[in-house]
Amino acid sequence: MGIPWGSSKKNLFCKVSRYQDLTAEVFQLELSWPGPSPRAGQFFMLKPQRTSVFLGRPVSVTSWKPSDQGSGGLVAFSIAKRGRGTQELARIQRGELVELTGPLGNYWGAFDVQGLPGHLALVGGGIGIAPCVALAAELPTGTFDFYGGFKSLPFGLENIPPHACIIATEDGSHGRKGRILDFLEPARYRCVYACGPEPMLKALADRCKALGVPCFISLERHMACGVGACLGCTVSTIHGNRRCCVDGPIFRAQEVRFDPYP
Ligand code: FES
Repeated sequence: MGIPWGSSKKNLFCKVSRYQDLTAEVFQLELSWPGPSPRAGQFFMLKPQRTSVFLGRPVSVTSWKPSDQGSGGLVAFSIAKRGRGTQELARIQRGELVELTGPLGNYWGAFDVQGLPGHLALVGGGIGIAPCVALAAELPTGTFDFYGGFKSLPFGLENIPPHACIIATEDGSHGRKGRILDFLEPARYRCVYACGPEPMLKALADRCKALGVPCFISLERHMACGVGACLGCTVSTIHGNRRCCVDGPIFRAQEVRFDPYP
C-alpha cells in the first residue's frame, strides 16, 4: 500500500535484470522500468529488441518494486511459452533489451467495494494468475484469502502469505485435489476478484451473481495495438462491445456476456 502509482503510459526499451524458469512452460522476466508506476491489474505490451514478430505481446504485471531513488523500479512478468513472440521472450538473456509499452488498461483498485464488512477472495487459475498475485501485494495482510488453481505444479505464489493461500491442483500433486472453485465459498467474502481461464471466470460469475456477491474479473484477449485503436480485443458486455485493452482488462463480472461458454 502507499505506492505512488502513475497513470500515463510510455514506450521504452528496458534491460532484463532477471530471468527465471518457473515451470517447463512458464518463465518470469524482471526488467528495469524507468516509467510511470503500474498498478495491480494493469499490463504492458512486450517485444524483444531483436524480433521476428511485428506486434508486442500483452502481459499482466506480476509484481512491481519501486526504486529507492524515487522514480522507476523493477517490473516482473510471468509468461507462458505459447507462440513465436513468447518463445522469443523465453530466449532473452539478462542484460538484453525488451521494448515495453505501458502501463496499460484499468486496475483492481478502481473496483474496490467500500463500506462492506468481510474479507476479500482473490482467485487465480494457472498462467492467468498474475493480476491477482499483483493485487495481493497491494492489500494489507489479513484482509484477503488467495485461491490458486493449477493443473499440476503451482507457481508464482512466493509472495502470498501461506496462511492465506489455498491451493488446488487437478492431479492432486500439491494442495487439495480438484478445481479451485470446488473449495471457494463466495458467500464468505464481501467481494471476489478473479483472473484465469474464461470458463472458470464464467462459473465464478454465475455463482457470485446467484449469491449477490460483487465479483470483478480480469479478461484476456489477443491484442494488436493495446491502446484502443484497432478494435481487435472486443469484450461483449450488457452495455455493448467494449475494448479489453482500454475499457478493461478488469470488468464487473455481471456485465460480461460469456457467449462462447454456454
Ligand atoms: S488491442 Fe487494439 S483496440 Fe484493444
